[in-house]
Amino acid sequence: MEMSESNPSEAQAAAQEAQHLRATLNRHAHLYYVLDAPELPDAEYDRLFQRLQALESTFPHLRVPDSPTQRVGGAALESFAKVAHRVPILSIQTETDTEASGAQAFDQRVRKGLGLAADAPPVDYVAELKFDGLAISLIYDEGVLVQAATRGDGQTGEEVTANIRTIGQIPLRLRAPAPGVWEVRGEVYMRRDDFDALNTRQRARIAAGDKGEKTFVNPRNAAAGAVRQLDPRIAAERPLSFFAYGLLRHGGGSKPNRPAEEGVTRESGAGDGGLADLLAAGLQTHAQALDRLREWGLPVSEQVRVVQGAAGLVEFHARIAAERDQLPFDIDGVVYKVNRLDWQQQLGFVTREPRWAVAHKYPAQEQLTVVEAIDVQVGRTGKLTPVAKLHPVFVGGVTVTNATLHNEDEARRKDVRVGDTVVVRRAGDVIPEVVSVLAEKRPPDTVPFQMPSHCPVCGSLAVREPEEVDHRCSGGLFCSAQRKQALWHFAHRRAMDIEDLGEKLIDQLVDAGLVKTLPDLYKLGFTALVGLERMAEKSANNVLASIEKSKDTTLPRFLFALGIRHVGETTAKDLARHFGRLDAIMDATVEQLLQVPDVGPVVAQSVQSFFAEPHHREVVAQLRACGLKWAEGEPTAGANLPLAGQTFVLTGTLGQLTRDEARARLEAAGAKVAGSVSRKTHAVVAGAEAGSKLDKARELGIPVYDEAQLLALFDQLGV
Ligand code: IVH
Repeated sequence: MEMSESNPSEAQAAAQEAQHLRATLNRHAHLYYVLDAPELPDAEYDRLFQRLQALESTFPHLRVPDSPTQRVGGAALESFAKVAHRVPILSIQTETDTEASGAQAFDQRVRKGLGLAADAPPVDYVAELKFDGLAISLIYDEGVLVQAATRGDGQTGEEVTANIRTIGQIPLRLRAPAPGVWEVRGEVYMRRDDFDALNTRQRARIAAGDKGEKTFVNPRNAAAGAVRQLDPRIAAERPLSFFAYGLLRHGGGSKPNRPAEEGVTRESGAGDGGLADLLAAGLQTHAQALDRLREWGLPVSEQVRVVQGAAGLVEFHARIAAERDQLPFDIDGVVYKVNRLDWQQQLGFVTREPRWAVAHKYPAQEQLTVVEAIDVQVGRTGKLTPVAKLHPVFVGGVTVTNATLHNEDEARRKDVRVGDTVVVRRAGDVIPEVVSVLAEKRPPDTVPFQMPSHCPVCGSLAVREPEEVDHRCSGGLFCSAQRKQALWHFAHRRAMDIEDLGEKLIDQLVDAGLVKTLPDLYKLGFTALVGLERMAEKSANNVLASIEKSKDTTLPRFLFALGIRHVGETTAKDLARHFGRLDAIMDATVEQLLQVPDVGPVVAQSVQSFFAEPHHREVVAQLRACGLKWAEGEPTAGANLPLAGQTFVLTGTLGQLTRDEARARLEAAGAKVAGSVSRKTHAVVAGAEAGSKLDKARELGIPVYDEAQLLALFDQLGV
């Protein structure tokens, strides 16, 4: 539709449409930003938004301050205007006691202050989260946001309205009538995921040569920087969020806080924090005030609870402490407030702190410290991990000296260097990590971290395969780190089944240099074992007995135990069945290996390469010399067994047989038991609650046996 300003009826229609669009857009913004329950596809929202923009450009008088098109706007400022808070923004008394005593002490003071008898019922409190952002005061005049200010020194703050308007969660117009002047207090913060995304983007900008950009130390610092940003367009790019936690009413419907230059003259009632006006507006409790804020479309945390007495506070403190790490944003504690507003008024203030509220802190999850070195650790699979060695720092309840840098890309991305001052974070049980580097504290002459070209444990080449993020040591069993992994696999229940050889003992044996190769295990003596820390005589004997017992094994188990790449249990069985003897497998060519059913080129190549390595042949020879033995058969010895060449798949829960028993008996009859159903499957055995494998079998028309039929088959075959 063509629009022109000349026609009065058109202008009227435009005004109506604009008002409707504003209401619709505001409703959907509330659903999207505050309730996190969008109803409109983004594209449709954008379409309505553009329509409103078009109307406003034709009829500029429709461009009202609370129009959703007016969130980002205005030129960059030279400086912020000062705002005198009508009611000073007080600080809050802090309890740092992590025990229950913090809450109990507060409850005692409140009861005493109110003159409550010892047998009076428990006091109702509102328990809230203490958000780790920055305090903001919002002034709504007749429901329209007219001013936003920082806390400043509590008396005077800075006017940051243009920046605050960019926060989608903050309504420019309240969603329900709010006659007069109301002040909403709350916290502007940044979610952790938004913070990580912001820093990733900042790093990309820096990498692209943008000198003006920097990364942020933590979400609070990033939020504060955005709010105090002189250019509102930059503030609009920073993903900020908001929680409202306080409401004041300024009687008389007057204008916003006047500029500080005019002098700080506070209204009467300022000393009680505007409570008298709230009571006059019919609000009796803080919980009701929070409900009012919700009705108006402001975000109020869902974690807020009304609780009874000290016990209720203690329980809230403990529950939030446990849930803290799952929250999408940082908190540094909880806040307790007396629920009844008349009681708040009665309790009043001591100097600059109310007697009716207290903050109960949690231990900090982030601290600053210095990187003293960057070590590279080698894991059991040969993976190289750079680890920052930190000057010891108490964070998240423990002393932290190491923080993982994950891999080369991560270390480079964060550009952590020896000598850097860094923010270390430890949340819950997760491994401590370096969140960011304080660029301004970097000493001169630092060098970027570089992954070593060789394994720091064994000196073999460290390689990073294309498409992989990790460097790996290529030393294989020469590398003690990988030797541990190999031993662990060798001892596994489904391999050599050495029950008493656990992970701890493997570490000890390798670290003490007692076991360098697999055969060394079988050369261990009693004296060497009892010499190890925490190894009693009885345990040493148990270990020796289980090692001895493992010598009597089977060819598939032994093959699997060797840890040949791509040779799992099933392939080991296939190879053993096909070749019958170990020597035949060791000498097989790739072509011969490809003759084995289900062995493809990758497996064939891997087996051939493994046994082509003289070191591996030596290991096998020594193991045999140590007395390892297994029954050997004729090549394809199973060929004349009744189920030779047939592949079965087991699925669901069998009643009489265990899976392992069913598998063993099928194999005894010459069948192969596979893990997944394909066209090559000959039969599927389905127990109770069989799922997708059964469906697949039916789809492919493969015969399905139940347990009774399987048992009948075993009977018939005599296995
Ligand atoms: S109420 C008189 N509630 O903590 C009580 N403050 O207040 C005034 N803060 O920087 C504060 N979460 O921004 C209150 N749920 C919450 C809060 C909260 C965070 C901050 C506030 C200020 C500091 C001390």
